[in-house]
Amino acid sequence: MAVIQIGVLTSGGDCPGLNAAIRGLGKALISKTNGRLIGFKDGFRGIAQDVFLELSSGELSGILTRGGTILGTARDKPHRMMIDGEQKDMTDVIVSNYKKRHLDALVCLGGGGTQKNALRLANAGLNVLTLPKTIDNDVWGTDVTFGFDTALCIATDAIDRLHSTATSHHRIIVVEIMGHRAGWLALGAGIAGGADVVVIPEIPYDIEKMAAAIRGRTEQGKRFSIVAVAEGALSLENKKTIDAMLAKKAKAKSKEQKKKISKQLEKFHERHIDNTLNLTKKLEELTGLESRLTILGHLQRGGIPSAGDRLLASRLGTACAEAIRNGVGNAMIGLRDNKTVTIPLEKVAGKLKLVPPDHQWVKSARDLSISFGD
Ligand code: F6P
Repeated sequence: MAVIQIGVLTSGGDCPGLNAAIRGLGKALISKTNGRLIGFKDGFRGIAQDVFLELSSGELSGILTRGGTILGTARDKPHRMMIDGEQKDMTDVIVSNYKKRHLDALVCLGGGGTQKNALRLANAGLNVLTLPKTIDNDVWGTDVTFGFDTALCIATDAIDRLHSTATSHHRIIVVEIMGHRAGWLALGAGIAGGADVVVIPEIPYDIEKMAAAIRGRTEQGKRFSIVAVAEGALSLENKKTIDAMLAKKAKAKSKEQKKKISKQLEKFHERHIDNTLNLTKKLEELTGLESRLTILGHLQRGGIPSAGDRLLASRLGTACAEAIRNGVGNAMIGLRDNKTVTIPLEKVAGKLKLVPPDHQWVKSARDLSISFGD
């Protein structure tokens, strides 16, 4: 029987659990089929430049608990990659390197962007499987992504620690939590850590209402507040601006016009630190309480994966090896109702899993008297 040969790469922002997933995939592949796994370095750039390392059982040993990715990662897109200072479409080169390495499948570990890039490669003729990773938990088609649980624990621990200093100084402490499009992390950590106000991209806020909620606490004798702000949280005014830009993009006739608006939107999102700082200053002004800002940033993506993420990533990695054995192709392996499932890539690519404003977590938060500033 011919040996099954699989390539694997990690793409997009790193997160805890990537190595556990690579290990799960590799161990199951080797033990069940005597297959061969090669790992391309630095995302799609590795397969475009044919830079890889052999992942035999020795290389897979001792990586279960390691954060980050042993393969390295990058945010490159196969069809738009900077090579020697020039932007190039590397799709054909990737297809030829895939053939040159006699691969039966390419497994891409990534978030929303990776699903789109994987579908592009599938359309170019490769057999591609994906595993959903991101601390943002916003990949459509899976109940949860690996990386989320670890980041949730880190952000919750931060909120726990901020409580004692906020109480001692009778301050508002605003804590900015990652999530530029989806608010799962800020919402989950806000509930688990007992934040008083949570603002997320899906529910635009009115700063006056946030301040009113904090003043209400002062009236009850509670002289501090913790405000969890997702990176991409939007005030009502900013939401209007974004919606207008999106409408303009939808109507734009040329590709260039669309690109220009996408760039403007990106710039808008990149300003999250300024937005959160302004929000902190405004809350101080409106409540009379001294306010401080803590930005958790990449701390949320670093370090060892939680037990939950190791378990999920191992399950998805081994399920991926099984899917390949069973001839499944061009699909994402996700988790639904605590069961691993395969979902066709064309169903997943281009979609985001946002927090529905009527989601149970939102309802539960409201029942806990958490204000969304809406
Ligand atoms: O997509 C995951 C994520 O951590 C987002 O929450 C965050 O906005 C972004 O990546 C940060 O990206 P980078 O590490 O490239 O600055």
